[in-house]
This record gives sequence, structure tokens and C-alpha cells, in this order.
Amino acid sequence: MPREVTDALNIRPDGIYIDGTLGGGGHSALIARHLTSGRLIGIDRDENAIIAASGSIKSKSFTPVRGNFHDLPGILDKLGIQKINGLLLDLGVSSHQIDTPQRGFSFKHDGPLDMRMDKNSQLSAAEIINTYDEKELTKIFFEYGEERFSRKIARAICCAREAAPVETTLQLAKIIESAQPRKKPSGIRSPGGTRSPGGTHPAMRTFMALRIAVNDELSPLAQTLRYAAEILVQGGRIAVLTFHSLEDRIVKTTFANLVSPCKCPRDIPYCVCGKTPSLRAISRKPILPSAEEIFENRRAHSAKLRVAERI
Ligand SMILES: C[S@@+](CC[C@H](N)C(=O)[O-])C[C@H]1O[C@@H](n2cnc3c(N)ncnc32)[C@H](O)[C@@H]1O
Repeated sequence: MPREVTDALNIRPDGIYIDGTLGGGGHSALIARHLTSGRLIGIDRDENAIIAASGSIKSKSFTPVRGNFHDLPGILDKLGIQKINGLLLDLGVSSHQIDTPQRGFSFKHDGPLDMRMDKNSQLSAAEIINTYDEKELTKIFFEYGEERFSRKIARAICCAREAAPVETTLQLAKIIESAQPRKKPSGIRSPGGTRSPGGTHPAMRTFMALRIAVNDELSPLAQTLRYAAEILVQGGRIAVLTFHSLEDRIVKTTFANLVSPCKCPRDIPYCVCGKTPSLRAISRKPILPSAEEIFENRRAHSAKLRVAERI
């Protein structure tokens, strides 16, 4: 959603903008085009993204930073930045990460069970799959993947790894598939409603859940958004693009709490808690990709963009 994102940030040519999820640098390149005397800090925890964007974005306004956007206070402190005009987060994995089998994100290509966005981090997907107990695996698949066969899948993994550790993505995908009822021919729902008529891959939810757990994608998000709201200048904006209902729920409720923080009972004539709004929502509903964009890029179909402005 390139145009929607740049419109959402309402970019000032002299502003300071943070792209917390630099990835292939597509959004950053567009933001940089709007800047004259402003600055753009592009953060990514993946070294490959930093190398690629450093090569492709030549603007003098651009500073690439390898790091985790959840460490925004530390990153901005090092750069001597106190206030910002905008923050963009385009959450999840990049196409490059998904399409590189050695990174282990894809259930379609064989590769090591890795899934770390940051290769320096300790926890890999293989570690989770081969050492977590059945209950912990079930919890991850159910909570992060909303996978209704989570218990069966966790049990199948624990059985399989008794013979030998599960080491590759295709090995895992096969185990996950074997734990689920067989797929009916496309367009026909099984009595149990195995999967949607369009058909998602049986391993999709489990792989997504594992990726979220490996990279601890959800737990620090609300705190990062609250921090960003504090350091925005008046009129500055936060734009967050999500691809997952759990991420979207966190963004939605965090924004809602900053837009309407007062929780005083309705029958009290005036506010006694003293909490005042710090943000206003730019649109009540999330901004969705156009049909044209979904047609061109299937991965865009679940995208939701939420935008809020500092008041
Ligand atoms: C969906 S891609 C971003 C694509 C980018 N907007 C573009 O236009 O090419 C997400 C990127 O964010 C990075 N990422 C995800 N979570 C991160 C975090 N907590 N801190 C830093 N980078 C993160 C991933 O490594 C990935 O490269």
C-alpha cells in the first residue's frame, strides 16, 4: 500500500521519520523522496535488509540502522533524536525473507528450521520445535496461529521428534499436514470444515505462529506504540500496517486507549481521572488495500493500515 502509507504519514519535507521495518526499502524510498532537509531512519533487525537498502536508497536524508524497533528509545538516543514527525511499521516478514529457503520461513521450500529475522538472536524455530513440551507448542500454535488443530499438531511433532530431531521446513510441514484431516477437493468444505474453499496450506497457521514466537513479534508492540505516541510532535503520525488479526487487535486497542484514555464512569458529570487523549484516529476503520493491489500481490489481501495523529 505505497500510496496509502505515504499519504497516511502526511510527510513534511523537513520532518524526522522512522521506518521501523525497512525490509526491501520500498516504503523508505518513497518517504525519502518527500524529504528535503528532513531525516529518515530506516530500522531493521535483519542484516540483509540493511545491506540491500543501504545500496538502493541513496538519499542523503537516509540513515539505516540495524536494530529492533522495540528498542526505539535506545536507537533514537544514540542518534540524538528527541522528537519525531512520523513512525511507520509494516509488520511481519518481507518477501525476500519468505522467498529465501535458507531463512526457513516458508513451508513451500525446503530449508533449515530457522525463522530468525535477526541471525544473532538465540532462539530458532528448530529449538522451539525440538525442545518445547507439547503444552507449550499447543499454546503457541493456538494463540499465535489461531490453529484449531493445534493440540493434534503439537502431539504429532512430539511423536516425530522421538525418532529424530525435526530439522527442515518440509519435514515439519509434512508432520503438520499428517496431523490434520485430509483436504477435500477444492471448493468443497468437509463436514468438519477443514479449511476454506479457496484453500490455505495446512501448515500456514503453524508456520506463522512459530515465526511470531521465534521473533517475539507481539508482546512488546503496545509499549512501542505508546512510546512513539509520546515522542511525536503535534500533528505527527503513526502508521501501522498489519497482516495478522492479533497484531491488528493490539494496534487497534492501543490507539483506542490513547485516543480515549478516560475511563471515568458515564454517570459522573465530569472526568476525575485526569487522563487526556494524546492521539486522534485518522480513520475509524482500518484502510484496506485496493482490489487492484490484491490482484497484483496476493500477500496484500490481509493488510490493514491504522493511522493516528498526535494532538
Ligand atoms: C513486511 S517487511 C517490510 C517491507 C518494507 N516496508 C518495504 O517496503 O520493503 C518487514 C521487515 O521488518 C523487519 N522487522 C520485523 N520486526 C522487526 C522489529 N521488531 N525490529 C526491526 N525490524 C523488524 C523484518 O526483518 C522485515 O525485513
